[in-house]
Amino acid sequence: MFSKFKKTQSNSEQAPDIELDMHRIPAHIAIIMDGNGRWAQKRHLPRIAGHKEGMQTVKKVTIAASKLGVKVLSLYAFSTENWKRPDDEVNYLMQLPIRFFNTFVPDLIKHNVRVSVMGDINQLPSGTQKAVYDAIDQTKECNGMVLNFALNYGGRDEIVSATQKIAQMAMDGQIKIDQIDESVLSDQMMTSQLGDYEDPDLMIRTSGEERISNFMLWQLAYSEFVFVDTHWPDFNEETLKQTIIEYQGRHRRFGGLTK
Ligand code: FPP
Repeated sequence: MFSKFKKTQSNSEQAPDIELDMHRIPAHIAIIMDGNGRWAQKRHLPRIAGHKEGMQTVKKVTIAASKLGVKVLSLYAFSTENWKRPDDEVNYLMQLPIRFFNTFVPDLIKHNVRVSVMGDINQLPSGTQKAVYDAIDQTKECNGMVLNFALNYGGRDEIVSATQKIAQMAMDGQIKIDQIDESVLSDQMMTSQLGDYEDPDLMIRTSGEERISNFMLWQLAYSEFVFVDTHWPDFNEETLKQTIIEYQGRHRRFGGLTK
């Protein structure tokens, strides 16, 4: 990964690093933060130590993305499938938003970052729900980057819920079947609150796995994917910039043939 930017041309020569183009920063970046467990295992630590360190990475990457001018940063913090993990790990992951917001909301406000959440929040423990709703409320006046946490989120679950809502609208006579199009579906997705930035431009997954694991299935239709070997706790501002440089080297056609 990234080897094309720093390829050795001869024994001593290095290709010049390609610089970040600040005029083409992806507006919406979505990240599957993977590898916390492996990061911990490599250090002979319990898996939750990886999640704890991963939380610090969330703080650093949030500030870095905000400074770069990213409009929306969507982070996959807990999936609808993560409930299958051992109880102590699930309990720890449920405590993390509380710890995170308790310590980080002042920094979010300082950097003008607004918190938003997608997922079935009502199924989370009450303390976690409160931390999330408090953070949303405390940052509601911020109009810089949106930090969008996917918590108890599943892409298929989201599409099923949207379908149910549209079916109900049809049954209630609010919409005709032939009026159902992509924009109607998009409006019922949990990202509709993000307006023009609902679809990620760039999706990053850390830790070397190359799949999307039920994340933003509808919204990732035309996103660029960048997979990095780095485990999430080791991801940092520099890695973020390198993924954006890789994105900037891509040729997005959205199914068309434009140059
Ligand atoms: C995947 O790594 C990571 C998770 C399921 C949890 C992600 C949570 C954080 C990064 C903590 C930050 C959260 C908040 C709300 C601030 P994994 O455990 O599957 O890693 P592995 O594949 O190496 O086992």
